[in-house]
Amino acid sequence: MATIKLIKEPAPILHQPAERVREISSDIRHLIDSMIQTMHAARGVGLAANQVDSPWSVLVASDNGVPGKELVLINPVLLKQSGRHTAAEGCLSLPGIACEVTRAARVTVQGWDREGRTVTIEAENLLAKILQHEIDHLAGRLFVDRLGVLKRRKLLKEYRNLQKALGQIEV
Ligand code: CO
Repeated sequence: MATIKLIKEPAPILHQPAERVREISSDIRHLIDSMIQTMHAARGVGLAANQVDSPWSVLVASDNGVPGKELVLINPVLLKQSGRHTAAEGCLSLPGIACEVTRAARVTVQGWDREGRTVTIEAENLLAKILQHEIDHLAGRLFVDRLGVLKRRKLLKEYRNLQKALGQIEV
């Protein structure tokens, strides 16, 4: 199973809402396996399908980094959230920048597992943060969209300068 190229900002698919998965086809299973490989290879703790150029509503998460213990959620929906928690956050699609982001401290998320069974996940701490970050991705939102306008502008400028210095984009 090969890893997939990670899609980085700026890319339109990162700003588009994901499409609901209707059935767990072999393509979807293949996508999930590739996303898990790609996440671990990039030393990430979570990944959304649009980050590997796929339109489907699929996320994978690994708050402990243990291969084989990943959380897979298809068509995830945030049912409940409570509390506030602020911690530094980065994103594989915005390499090189990070910022403190305030999110809910605890969440309840419902979706399908890889067999298509409905599962309800109650999460806190890092897993709650990952799930909110990835569900945002599937809605076409990046973590910088959670920041105030000035902070977002400053961070995106920093990102563009970094990418330009690395010769990644021509802007
Ligand atoms: Co991300």
